[in-house]
Amino acid sequence: MTAPAIKRMDLMFSEREIARRVREIAGEINALYQDKPLVMVCILKGGFMFFSDLVKQVSVQPELDFVRLASYGAATSGAAISFTKDVELSLKGKHVLFVEDVVDSGHTMLFLLQQMRARGAASLRIAALVDKRERREVEVTVDFSGFALPKGFIVGYGLDYAERFRELPAIYELVFE
Ligand code: IMP
Ligand code: MG
Repeated sequence: MTAPAIKRMDLMFSEREIARRVREIAGEINALYQDKPLVMVCILKGGFMFFSDLVKQVSVQPELDFVRLASYGAATSGAAISFTKDVELSLKGKHVLFVEDVVDSGHTMLFLLQQMRARGAASLRIAALVDKRERREVEVTVDFSGFALPKGFIVGYGLDYAERFRELPAIYELVFE
């Protein structure tokens, strides 16, 4: 099986647009979690750049942690999902905010939320840079969304295509041959 060849990359969200949305989301987080114990959890790998920019603007002194999930079979088919790295902090009594790159079918986040429900957190919420909500196959709500995207495959700012393009500071839509 060969991956389809890339014909073009079209700019979708510029560095400036992303920075503006990150500032706005940080403002919402600061308002909602004021005086509450917050743990922000980065979902590796895709969430790393959004997480890094976001936490710098959060003023409620969150604890930070990381999870990594692996899905077997087609990337977004909702095939078996498992942890390859779990959170290390106790979540008991704390408010938890997961920071993800894209929520697409919703299977990844549903799995994560189900696993985390037994940990005794005060609340579980999701921040996603891109919400492909029209493509949802299971019910998952993004509480803090950077951009809504009805279709297309995007890369950059943490997001990859076969592990490439994560380093780009802006987001591009891939156009295939
Ligand atoms: P879901 O389980 O279908 O919601 O898939 C979510 C995962 O698919 C995200 O964590 C992304 O890693 C990946 N994904 C979905 N859409 C895109 C995209 O347009 N570009 C890069 N990764 C994507
Ligand atoms: Mg991902």
